[in-house]
Amino acid sequence: MADFLTDEEFRTFSDLIYKESGITFSESNRSILESRLKDKLRMMKLEKISDYYNIVIKDSEEKKNLLDSITTNLTRFFRNMPHFEALENFVIPELVKLKKANGQKKIKIWSAGCSTGEEPYTIAMMMKKCLPSDFSFEVIASDLSLKCLLVARTGFYQDPKITSVPDDYLKLYFDKVNKGYQVKSEIMNLVTFDYHNLQNESKHSDFDIVFCRNVIIYFDEVAQKGVIDRFWRAMTPKSFLFIGHSESLFGMDTKFEFIKTNWACFYKKDI
Ligand SMILES: C[S@@+](CC[C@H](N)C(=O)[O-])C[C@H]1O[C@@H](n2cnc3c(N)ncnc32)[C@H](O)[C@@H]1O
Repeated sequence: MADFLTDEEFRTFSDLIYKESGITFSESNRSILESRLKDKLRMMKLEKISDYYNIVIKDSEEKKNLLDSITTNLTRFFRNMPHFEALENFVIPELVKLKKANGQKKIKIWSAGCSTGEEPYTIAMMMKKCLPSDFSFEVIASDLSLKCLLVARTGFYQDPKITSVPDDYLKLYFDKVNKGYQVKSEIMNLVTFDYHNLQNESKHSDFDIVFCRNVIIYFDEVAQKGVIDRFWRAMTPKSFLFIGHSESLFGMDTKFEFIKTNWACFYKKDI
């Protein structure tokens, strides 16, 4: 079957998307981009792909919509449990010790590329359960998908989405409602959702923990390094970075230190 885009059109769109988001399209995932653009033309009743391109480059809202449509948003509660075991058994105790030594009692966390909210709510539930009661924390959760952020902000999840939540967490932090579960307000109030493109510098800083899992896998090496350097600048000394279990900083020119624990591997800004 003939490609929907000419090679030049494919390059024009993939270059634009890369420049705007770091997300990389090549021959191996070309069909995803073509299918999203086909849908766009149909929905907007446009004949030619060049008509759509002319709209996208002039209209920043449509540019956001395009980026939203090409993201992969797969996520779930307690995804990759060893990371959360490491959070509970290693990272929280280390940070509590450090903060006490510095006379501080607040921990700041960033869930970068939070999709529909399952990751930041998991982090908030875990922090609430495990952190000493005289400590406080906040979770900033960001994504460039406005559709995902809308879902995340409701804190409502249909029954099938809840299957990975351990029973004790379900009882403590969710209310059963019609056809699903609602995250309790005591957890929702600890999470702030924000539109943020990881291609840009963070407007927040002083993070003690950053989760950016299953996001940089869609970027090429240059875009990955840019994001990791921006995390470095947004994090405090002795802070921790979790990336996805199929992602790695191996071979990257970065000062993050690789940490291997009994539970999982992650990175530390050890200065
Ligand atoms: C596969 S989901 C991962 C969700 C969650 N971190 C997890 O591991 O379950 C990847 C998310 O990264 C977001 N994303 C991709 N590129 C981004 C960028 N440049 N800036 C911000 N978010 C981005 C996507 O919109 C998507 O919601």
